[in-house]
Amino acid sequence: DTAAEQAAFDALIDAEQRIEPRDWMPEGYRKTLIRQISQHAHSEIIGMQPEGTWITRAPSLKRKAILLAKVQDEAGHGLYLYSAAQTLGITRDEMTQQLIDGRAKYSSIFNYPTPTWADMGAIGWLVDGAAICNQVPLCRASYGPYGRAMVRICKEESFHQRQGFEILLTLMQGTAAQRAMAQDSVDRWYWPSLMMFGPPDESSPNSAQSMAWKIKRFSNDELRQRFIGMLVPQAEILGVTLPDPELRWDEAAQRWHTSEIDWTEFHEVLAGRGPMNAARLQHRRAAHEDGAWVREAAVAYARRQAEKTER
Ligand code: 3HC
Repeated sequence: DTAAEQAAFDALIDAEQRIEPRDWMPEGYRKTLIRQISQHAHSEIIGMQPEGTWITRAPSLKRKAILLAKVQDEAGHGLYLYSAAQTLGITRDEMTQQLIDGRAKYSSIFNYPTPTWADMGAIGWLVDGAAICNQVPLCRASYGPYGRAMVRICKEESFHQRQGFEILLTLMQGTAAQRAMAQDSVDRWYWPSLMMFGPPDESSPNSAQSMAWKIKRFSNDELRQRFIGMLVPQAEILGVTLPDPELRWDEAAQRWHTSEIDWTEFHEVLAGRGPMNAARLQHRRAAHEDGAWVREAAVAYARRQAEKTER
């Protein structure tokens, strides 16, 4: 009965065990995992667009090859995560339709433009750096398929972050114009990368329950602080300035003191009114429509193969 199943579920969570697809789970646990994992998958797929626009314009064959590999990695991350979400009872088509209809969230960070090559460096260093801070703890998420997908994703993410850092380092060792381009890019991506971690803890409706279910291991603000602590020494090595005049270590409070984050901007982007929201969805919609014939052909081929084996 449900009381016994709930007790068994709670015992598994308390014992740091994994919940697997066939295990009984509270409906709320299933729902919040479908919510988070599908949004995570959408983020990976939409995240291919900002970088994809620079593949044909990379400054060298080496940079083109690295960027191509990174964008392909993100498509793969999306695939793992959609597959993990499907183990909870939602279909790929439902998730794709939710994204295309504008009913699904994806990470706010991908709604900003990438006007210069230096953005490929800032995205790798800041966006993938933030992703690593957020995704390493998710390797220990209580839901098996999600935690296991994260292990592979985190390995590839660290390559993404290193290549971004290296692009910025190369630019900062270049001409004055290249240094200015790198600094401008860091100025544009720094605050949106802090928003990737979600709203402040006191305004995070999902955190308490997600932490009780050991999906979320650290709070939004804890991970944001960890990320800033990682950035400060790396910014010094790069020679870039983090665009927050108030940023300093508060010894008494044992935390980084920052200027106020502009949560109005965050909520505007989440409401679909960011600089690139419409363009990102339009591009995704067009790709889905342009690819319909491939899906139809694959289904027809699979049906014919099935008929052959039945004869
Ligand atoms: N962008 C869009 N929506 C966001 C957001 C952001 N940066 N931060 C929070 N939200 C949404 C939440 O989804 C939630 O809305 P919902 O209830 O409708 O889903 C609402 O704002 C309140 O936030 P909460 O803190 O209560 O929500 P969560 O507990 O889910 O925490 C999260 C938010 C930390 C993003 C968590 O969902 C999470 O860890 N998700 C998995 C990681 C992820 O999605 N990362 C996004 C980037 S993927 C990426 O970087 C790819 C790499 O290759 C670059």
